[in-house]
Amino acid sequence: MADRYLHFTGTAPGRFLTRRLGLPRPAPLRRWSPGTPSLDGPLLHLTAGDSAITRELGALLAATGLDVTDRAEHAERPAGIVLDATAVTAPGGLTAVHAALHPVIRSLAPGGRVVVVGVRPSADDHHQAAAQQALEGFTRSLGKEVGRGSTVQLLRIAPGAVAPAESTLRFLLSPRSAYLSGQVIELTPAAPDPVADWTAPLAGRTALVTGAARGIGASVAGVLARDGARVICLDVPQVRDELARTAEELGGTALPLDITADDAADRIAAAAPDGLDVLVHNAGITRDRRLANMPAERWTSVVDVNLDSVLRTTDALLKAGTVNRGGRIVATASIAGIAGNNGQTNYAASKAGIIGLVRALAPHAAADHGVTVNAVAPGFIETKMTAAVPLLIREAGRRMNSLAQGGLPVDVAETTAWFAQPASTAVNGQIVRVCGQSLLGA
Ligand SMILES: NC(=O)c1ccc[n+]([C@@H]2O[C@H](COP(=O)([O-])OP(=O)(O)OC[C@H]3O[C@@H](n4cnc5c(N)ncnc54)[C@H](O)[C@@H]3O)[C@@H](O)[C@H]2O)c1
Repeated sequence: MADRYLHFTGTAPGRFLTRRLGLPRPAPLRRWSPGTPSLDGPLLHLTAGDSAITRELGALLAATGLDVTDRAEHAERPAGIVLDATAVTAPGGLTAVHAALHPVIRSLAPGGRVVVVGVRPSADDHHQAAAQQALEGFTRSLGKEVGRGSTVQLLRIAPGAVAPAESTLRFLLSPRSAYLSGQVIELTPAAPDPVADWTAPLAGRTALVTGAARGIGASVAGVLARDGARVICLDVPQVRDELARTAEELGGTALPLDITADDAADRIAAAAPDGLDVLVHNAGITRDRRLANMPAERWTSVVDVNLDSVLRTTDALLKAGTVNRGGRIVATASIAGIAGNNGQTNYAASKAGIIGLVRALAPHAAADHGVTVNAVAPGFIETKMTAAVPLLIREAGRRMNSLAQGGLPVDVAETTAWFAQPASTAVNGQIVRVCGQSLLGA
């Protein structure tokens, strides 16, 4: 399962050969650890034109404890750049985007973070809409250019609502978002809950993770526990022992249960007498075949586990009030649900269905229950699921993204933990790809 190519390209002969042959040269990515939690150098705060939010954004960045400067000459090798492009209301304003970033982009440190801050393209002002949409193409292209493990995102904040962006800026400017690039994240103006301790944002909260015995789910459960949550780990009774081990390792409890069971929601509610603050729908299966060869059973089992059970349990748990106010629901889509995949009509349908569910439910869940609903859409993540993929397809999956490598389960887990934070109230209805900016469905 290990990515031997990534290791090889870090050696002297590997560097020589990849350069000579023009092969992908993935940079080792730095993940979050308690010893090195944040940016490894100064953060440059630039502006493209005069914006009403510049000062407020500067104050917010300063409050993160990062070493922030607005002078390029004070940051010879910036580890991060935040470009405030909220003042760009017509294509002419894009000149200022070029003027701000062109002189400094080459000096971005390896593993650097670029966040372009914009606003939602207007439905009434087509000049503003053209300019703000232009930032999307700009961001996605820059993500493909920067190389050396650096990432670039576009963060659309609600006009006049800078404070709700704090948890997202902290996430995007940290090693927690190592495998995210080319993402467009749009915030609502919702006020965040205050955070007592950014190192344990989930203290006192209860989370339930489905499919938690192994792979991505086990990592999600681990990261939520690390962030202070009491975690209930759910998986099918057939893997009861593995589930018990995972739960024990993180000081959580195990709930052996098939999520497709008729009484699944009741059993979950019974296991969480004080309600749930975080509900992560991670359980998923594949039963690949081309449509022409796919028996009905392969179709229905995938749609039932990956989509129907998510709809059923979400509806029931919201209706019963088991998901507490301020709660967070995180579902799991896939880039297959965006790009489609040969042999995966069933799987891609189920994962695209998750995207539809999240977008439609998010505003209602927020208004009626005070709950946010988001989805992670993993790309190629190194797990047992992808280890089973034939070698050539596996290698293509690993390399065909801007970071030229597969992600790790922890990358999906960190994204889930950011959604789960009490401070992320403004993050709602988002589908965030954890795919290293995969070329599939880009
Ligand atoms: N690995 C990837 O590259 C990748 C890419 C895109 C999306 N995903 C999605 O991420 C999620 C986790 O994937 P993974 O790679 O860790 O998979 P995995 O197969 O390693 O783990 C999935 C877990 O879900 C559990 N599960 C399956 N059916 C269940 C049911 N009916 N009730 C309860 N639990 C059930 C399994 O027992 C298993 O422990 C899935 O939804 C998958 O579709 C993974």
